Amino acid sequence: MSEVMQNDDLAYRPGLAGRVARVVIPLLHKILPFGAYRFVYNLLYGTYVRLLRLGYLLRLVLVRLTGNRRASLRATLTYRLLPFTMGGRKALENAFDVMAMVEDHGVPGAIVECGVAQGGTSAMLAVANRHLGAAGRRKWLFDSYEGLPEPTKEDYEGGKTGDFIRPLPKGACLGTVEQVEALMFGRLRFSRDDTFLVKGWFQDTVPQHAASVGEIAVLRLDGDWYESTKIPLDHFYDSVAPGGVVIVDDYGTCFGSKKAVDEFRRERNLTSPLIADGRGGVWFEKRPEDTD
Ligand SMILES: C[S@@+](CC[C@H](N)C(=O)[O-])C[C@H]1O[C@@H](n2cnc3c(N)ncnc32)[C@H](O)[C@@H]1O
Repeated sequence: MSEVMQNDDLAYRPGLAGRVARVVIPLLHKILPFGAYRFVYNLLYGTYVRLLRLGYLLRLVLVRLTGNRRASLRATLTYRLLPFTMGGRKALENAFDVMAMVEDHGVPGAIVECGVAQGGTSAMLAVANRHLGAAGRRKWLFDSYEGLPEPTKEDYEGGKTGDFIRPLPKGACLGTVEQVEALMFGRLRFSRDDTFLVKGWFQDTVPQHAASVGEIAVLRLDGDWYESTKIPLDHFYDSVAPGGVVIVDDYGTCFGSKKAVDEFRRERNLTSPLIADGRGGVWFEKRPEDTD
């Protein structure tokens, strides 16, 4: 399949709520003073997440009635972690499915997320490993914990950085160290001995820690921008074990993220297909022939 066909197939098509939000939220941003906009946005977003979670409860009940244990676990964990992610249910379900596949295939290595925010998708990878894997994997959670940096010129196409609901200025998508510690060490009781929150810009932290991270089973990239995707690929891809997986959350929504992935896959002649997660994210497996 050609790169072009593959990319067209992976184009993100938001549902009705997403399409309405793409009109209403930027409009509110334009007409309201910033404080008022932030208040209204948080109110609308909070309501949306609560409704989403309520709707998911019905799905959870139906899935449990089927008696399928793995599907019930997936739905239960998704329901519990929905309040901690910006990615919604599909990002969580995809993280579960990828981790389950890696566990089924016995792929060794750590869980690494670059772009953690409040920790929901990192937590899903970690709890899926806890439930399905033999031993606890090391978990490396990289983030500025100060929100997004500014995009660079590599992120722009036609004056825009992507197709998303709200403007993403510096500091957007904030999750703090305290929030992620409360989730990982408080609520989920992971140990500080094998779970590492690395605070700082990927430009500094990723090269510094690449050697200590070692072998990787799942590399999840959720930093939105070109550099925030390319830097972890450049420093971590070689450590991904054969059969391990790279997830790119923003491939279909952020121009820079897609550019970084396409560039990297071209540079390395990677042949394993990009698989869509149904909401703009993609994942691909590291095949043995893609190992140096
Ligand atoms: C969309 S959010 C991540 C969402 C998260 N995975 C979830 O489950 O909700 C993007 C995150 O990437 C982080 N980020 C982006 N670029 C970064 C960089 N260059 N260095 C450090 N953090 C970065 C931001 O701080 C932000 O928390």
